[in-house]
Amino acid sequence: MLNQLRVAILGAGKIAELGHLPGYVQAGAAIVAVCDTDASALQRLGDKYQIDRRHTDWRQMLAMGGFDAVSICTPPSLHADMAVASAQHGYHVLVEKPMALTLNACDRMIEAARSANKLLMVSHNQRFAARHVIAKRILDSGRLGRPYVARATFAHGGPENWSPRQTWYFDAGPATQGVMADLGSHKIDLLRWLLGQEVTEVSAFGATFEKATKADDTAVLSLRFSGGTLASIYVSWAQRPRMTDDLAIQCDRGTLLVPTDASEPVRVLEPGQGGTVAESVYAFDAAGEPGWLAAVAAFVDAVTNHKQSPVSGEDGRATMAAVLAAYDAFANRRVVQLMLPSRELGGS
Ligand SMILES: NC(=O)c1ccc[n+]([C@@H]2O[C@H](COP(=O)([O-])OP(=O)(O)OC[C@H]3O[C@@H](n4cnc5c(N)ncnc54)[C@H](O)[C@@H]3O)[C@@H](O)[C@H]2O)c1
Repeated sequence: MLNQLRVAILGAGKIAELGHLPGYVQAGAAIVAVCDTDASALQRLGDKYQIDRRHTDWRQMLAMGGFDAVSICTPPSLHADMAVASAQHGYHVLVEKPMALTLNACDRMIEAARSANKLLMVSHNQRFAARHVIAKRILDSGRLGRPYVARATFAHGGPENWSPRQTWYFDAGPATQGVMADLGSHKIDLLRWLLGQEVTEVSAFGATFEKATKADDTAVLSLRFSGGTLASIYVSWAQRPRMTDDLAIQCDRGTLLVPTDASEPVRVLEPGQGGTVAESVYAFDAAGEPGWLAAVAAFVDAVTNHKQSPVSGEDGRATMAAVLAAYDAFANRRVVQLMLPSRELGGS
């Protein structure tokens, strides 16, 4: 067992500031180095977290070493090269979502971690949000029976409000960097995990209503899962006035409702006596939202105690396969079928 995990942060932007850095502090890890090409971002977070080693060249930081793990908090187009090099240098990797822009890039990351015998975790933090942990417990208990339909929304006013200095969110590049990848990956991963099923078919519509980008700022996805559950996902960077980040799962014995935040409880609606509705409520703590700190804590725990990755590279890849299928479906106006990962086919 490692005494204290030593980590280096790659990318000192918004998710590093709100998720990774406080997450490592809370989990008792030592943050020994930080890297960003933007000197002001580097100074701000370096000062705030009193990190002595500050780099502008990530390859140099990796080569210099002195840490056990790397948190990759840069734009998605950089994730694969950074994760592969990190694993090759012998570091465990926590990489932000979406995992990478192509399945080939995801495969390279998985293979590099496997060859180096290092842990690779994709930071799908929604799994760790308190309200989703409650939802998972309820679904897994079998009380609601078979999940027929899931309806998930993740919509807010856009990344320019979240990280005002960023430009990459709107650089469409290979048409995989829009809201379907940004917010859609969150909800696809969440549903895969909650349902314990893989996505088998996807159709999707996207639109660019108002953002200065060629990418989609709003999208609607329809999914079929391997256990038969249907899902619809609405994602947007153009929603006003407030964010919606919620979920409803209709099952054969009742409905599970997961709210956006802790101002409302998780609710279960079931048929009551004489045609009434029996409602059960599950309050949760706002401190457990949106799961950023718990995701980092799970990474630290897994590395320190030699556990399996809490969200594996294969998970990140399966989610990206569905995201890319949605882009394909949208671009080519068709329903896209996905190959099931071998563990589904093999039943293990
Ligand atoms: N899990 C979540 O809830 C969540 C929320 C927001 C963002 N994210 C993800 O986190 C990642 C970063 O998003 P963000 O919103 O923090 O972006 P951001 O723009 O705020 O931060 C990214 C940082 O990376 C730096 N950077 C860019 N190129 C670099 C390079 N070559 N070397 C070193 N640093 C470099 C930038 O200067 C910037 O400071 C993305 O993958 C995004 O999808 C996840």
